[in-house]
Amino acid sequence: MVLCVVYESKQNYLGAVSGALTFFLHSDLKVAMIGVNEAHSFWQTLETRMDNYRIAIIGLGGMGGAHAEAVQLETNCELVAGAEINPERAKAWGERFGVKAIYDDYEKMLDAQKPDIVIVPTQAPMHHAPTIAAAQRGIHVFCEKPTALNLIEADEMVETCDQHHVKFAINHIKRASPYNRHVLSLIEQGEIGDVVLMKATDKGGRKAGNSLMEMGTHLYDWLRLFGGDVEWTHAHLVQMDGRASTVDDIKHTQEVHPHDRDAGLVLGERGHVAFRFKNGIHADVQFIAQPQTNDNAYGIDIIGTEGRIAIRESVGTTMFIHRGQHQTPADAWDPVHLASEDLDEQGNPRDDASTRLLLQRLMLRDLIEAIEEDREPFASGKDGRDCLEMIHATWESHRQEARVYMPLTPRDHPLERWKREERTDLPSNKK
Ligand SMILES: NC(=O)c1ccc[n+]([C@@H]2O[C@H](COP(=O)([O-])OP(=O)(O)OC[C@H]3O[C@@H](n4cnc5c(N)ncnc54)[C@H](O)[C@@H]3O)[C@@H](O)[C@H]2O)c1
Repeated sequence: MVLCVVYESKQNYLGAVSGALTFFLHSDLKVAMIGVNEAHSFWQTLETRMDNYRIAIIGLGGMGGAHAEAVQLETNCELVAGAEINPERAKAWGERFGVKAIYDDYEKMLDAQKPDIVIVPTQAPMHHAPTIAAAQRGIHVFCEKPTALNLIEADEMVETCDQHHVKFAINHIKRASPYNRHVLSLIEQGEIGDVVLMKATDKGGRKAGNSLMEMGTHLYDWLRLFGGDVEWTHAHLVQMDGRASTVDDIKHTQEVHPHDRDAGLVLGERGHVAFRFKNGIHADVQFIAQPQTNDNAYGIDIIGTEGRIAIRESVGTTMFIHRGQHQTPADAWDPVHLASEDLDEQGNPRDDASTRLLLQRLMLRDLIEAIEEDREPFASGKDGRDCLEMIHATWESHRQEARVYMPLTPRDHPLERWKREERTDLPSNKK
């Protein structure tokens, strides 16, 4: 028998979990239920801090709004300026957030406003230049994912931030999730024994190539959170009809899907990717491009010698634990609920928008703590660069039909190189 508590209303939930960190023990099953007091103390840690951080944003589109909301909720942050090349968006953003200092040139903004932190929620081709410009001016950088278009850019971003002693974070937002922090602590405590394998499934919908640069970057970063640095990658990419993807299938992201963001060249419609991490853990990743799977399958099963943990979904997280290895598909997994992510400050259940805002605030808060403690942010630029390396290694391994080892060399875009060297519809490459 499994003891678990699923809350249907605030009242039931509060009744069910009165008390602080509560563990329910039943025979050899242990279900973690972290309760309301934990949520209260969690929120106390988000209260006023000493310093005031002046923050500016470059790129005032969708994520430019999401970051601005998070900044304005932090009592130690001030949203001082925004830069945007689209005048209507700039005006609407300025009015929405009550910010008067709006620029069409981000370098002018950085020089005039001298913010402490700049947030860069532009699309991928515009991550490198603003990051370098800010770092050279001694401004800390919080950049959107995917880190850059290629590893040459990403290396430069990391090196320039290091040279100028500024902190560099990438918005791989799953790292902020209290669920993922909890999973890390369960692993550290040996709750599922030694981790041997992670099975990850991409969020459905997008074809593998576009997804790698969009949601796959979150999935790969999520694997790195639990697995650490990667030793090698072995990938096989196919088209929807099952044939192996070729150089002639390389396309621009917006050629694959006109409404997707610009993330440069991509390849593959479905994908099967294996990673070995330096600590000996393996991972199998599936990109099956089926819209029905979406958040239900998007996530990771972490398989240990004494049990398994499953985590799912792109914004709000669901988590399950299973003890022992003697399971059939019909054996139940025990749900784990964390009040700190599921409930708001008033104890009401969160919707996806509220969860996203919470995670966005936690990401910003961690960057500020990293500045104050002079440590790496928990989603550092180096982590973001190494995550991009996993994406590019996926393409390179597919091309070579072999394992590729890290660090990946050369550092240019593997698909640009493949096209340059072999594309059959270019006269210079005709055999
Ligand atoms: N971390 C997450 O969970 C998450 C979620 C959604 C999107 N994203 C990422 O955020 C990034 C932005 O996505 P979006 O949907 O907000 O894009 P968007 O197109 O809505 O916004 C980008 C804005 O940048 C502006 N811009 C472009 N060049 C500029 C320049 N030189 N100076 C100033 N502004 C410039 C554009 O005009 C646009 O308004 C993407 O990389 C995306 O992958 C991350």
